[in-house]
This record gives sequence, C-alpha cells and structure tokens, in this order.
Amino acid sequence: MPSLEAVNLTKNYGKFVALSNLSLKIEGSKCVGFLGPNGAGKTTTLKLFTDMIRPSQGKALINGISVHENKRLALEHCGSLIESPEIYPSFTPKEALSMIAEIRGVPHDVREKRIEEAIAEVKMEDWKDKKVGKFSKGMKQRINIASSLLSEPDILLLDEPTTGLDPRGMSEVRDIVKSLKKRNRLIFMSSHLLPEVSDVCDEVAMIDHGKLLVYDTLSNVTTKFSGDGNSSIVEIGLARALDDSFPIGSISSITGVVSVDKMDSRNLRIKFSGGLEKQETLLSDLAAMKIGMISFRASGSALEDTYLNLIKDTL
Ligand SMILES: Nc1ncnc2c1ncn2[C@@H]1O[C@H](COP(=O)(O)OP(=O)(O)OP(=O)(O)O)[C@@H](O)[C@H]1O
Ligand SMILES: [Mg+2]
Repeated sequence: MPSLEAVNLTKNYGKFVALSNLSLKIEGSKCVGFLGPNGAGKTTTLKLFTDMIRPSQGKALINGISVHENKRLALEHCGSLIESPEIYPSFTPKEALSMIAEIRGVPHDVREKRIEEAIAEVKMEDWKDKKVGKFSKGMKQRINIASSLLSEPDILLLDEPTTGLDPRGMSEVRDIVKSLKKRNRLIFMSSHLLPEVSDVCDEVAMIDHGKLLVYDTLSNVTTKFSGDGNSSIVEIGLARALDDSFPIGSISSITGVVSVDKMDSRNLRIKFSGGLEKQETLLSDLAAMKIGMISFRASGSALEDTYLNLIKDTL
C-alpha cells in the first residue's frame, strides 16, 4: 500500500520557519488535497518529500523509506510535478518525453511503451507528434503530468497543477487528476482552492504558516467547517465506554437533533439545528438523561474560524 509520512518535519530559513514540525501519515490509494494560502509551506513540504531541499529537523518517508537517507529507492515509485520547466516549444510531446525518460534512466526496452501509456493517461494521443509550442497551457501541463508518470509511480506529488491555467485548462487538468486516481495511486496535490480540493480529492490536509491545521476526510472536514447553514455540532465526552445499552436512539429523538455519530468509544458528535438556544436545551436534555456525560463542547465554530482565517489571505 503506497504511503507518505512526515515525522516532525521542519524547515527553517535562518530564523524563518517555513514548515514547523509536520507529522502526517497518508496511506492507501486516494487523492489528498494539500490546502493552504500563498506562503503556507506547501511547496516546501513537497520539496522535502522529493529531497529537493533538506529538512532542518525530522524526516520524510515514502513507502516507509527515508528520502534523505535513501533517495533513489524512496523515489523509485514516486512521480512529481514541482516547478517543472517549460517544455521546449519545437519539441513534440513524444520527443520531450523521450528526452526526459533518457535523463531519468527509464530502461530502453520499456521506454516507448511507457511514453505511449503516459500520453494516453493524459489523453493527448492525438497531439503526441505536434509541436508543443502550439499547445494551450492546459495541454502543456498535461504533458508535464505525463512526464511524472514515466516511472509508473504509485505515488504522485503535484504542486498546484492547475495554477496559472484558464478555467477550461483547470477543468481539463482536474479531470486528468481524477482519472489518475483509478490506478491504485496515492496522489498528494497542493492547491489554494477549496472548491478544487472538494471536487478532486477524498481527503484534505490544511496548512498555514508552516503548521498543519487539520487532516481528515473531505466529508468530515466539510461537516466541521461549514455545517449546512443552520445546523451546528457539539461533541460530548462520556465517563464510560459506549456499549449496547447506551441510548443513542433516545439522543437521536431529541427535538432538533439531526444525527448522532460515534467518534470513538467515549465521544459522540451530535449535529442539531436551532442555534445557540437549542444548544442550551440540548445540554440540559442530555444532562437529564444521566448518560455519564462529562464534557459538552461546541465543535465546528473554532475550526470554522481557523478555516476562514486560513483562506481570507487568498481571497
Ligand atoms: N529559499 C527560501 N529562502 C527563504 N524563504 C523561503 C525560501 N523558500 C520558501 N521560503 C518561504 O517559506 C514560506 C513557505 O513557502 P512555500 O513556497 O512553501 O509556500 P506555498 O504554500 O507553496 O505558497 P504558494 O501558494 O505561494 O505556492 C514562504 O513564506 C516563503 O517565502
Ligand atoms: Mg507553492
């Protein structure tokens, strides 16, 4: 199973902390959006993962192998698109990819096949012998993505693959990224656009000022951050672990309660409508049930603030 792991990963430039103590483990085949405003530390993180820069502290592991100690082995099945140079305009995609395959040491006997497959994956078959100079930015970016596929990676690191493209180019590239997910790959894609991440990704890691704010599934983050207009969420803690006798049904039937979810054996997340007034009656209703509730806290609002602070810089 493909995996990416950062352990206390830190990058300082003099006194400036570009990435602070990032610990994150991503495993399995899925697409994870790495969301944060300009200067958050996204590119820094991706460069650390590909050993383009060295950490000040901590380490980055790909499939369990330290990229700083064993770069070649760690990056063998990892493709990346980070600050790639423009393709020379008089090259065709096939010529450009042949040259890149040569530089990267793709074995001769599989080169032709890999190039054809990579071109097919980015749906550029009809353009493979045309000069790149005539391509739109979106098409050029698809060729860049193809170049990251030449090593048949199971992990793909993409740094803002749609930035700088027009709306059509963006949507083309997003469709390609979505289709790349199908092949049991782990894709880690940075972006500063929340709608893009919600469209393309299954999970999201948010970063700002070099610090990880949250890493969770998209649906959990969306519930936490946005609610749905007029519903709110509280999290309650229990003195004892939940068992079969616990009256989840009775909680669900309290007026205004939308859903009750188990976070773990001692914590429940309750979604309800009716605002702060309802929050007060919910607290007293739950207390009256004598279910061993030892904590009651509003969820979402703190995170929503974090999120709004996070994106306001990019607006
Ligand atoms: N070589 C460097 N020397 C000094 N500071 C740097 C260097 N590289 C990056 N930084 C700083 O580190 C911070 C994080 O930069 P990074 O490029 O990782 O941000 P980012 O999240 O990719 O932003 P963007 O959305 O603009 O691409 C920024 O404040 C940047 O100015
Ligand atoms: Mg960047």
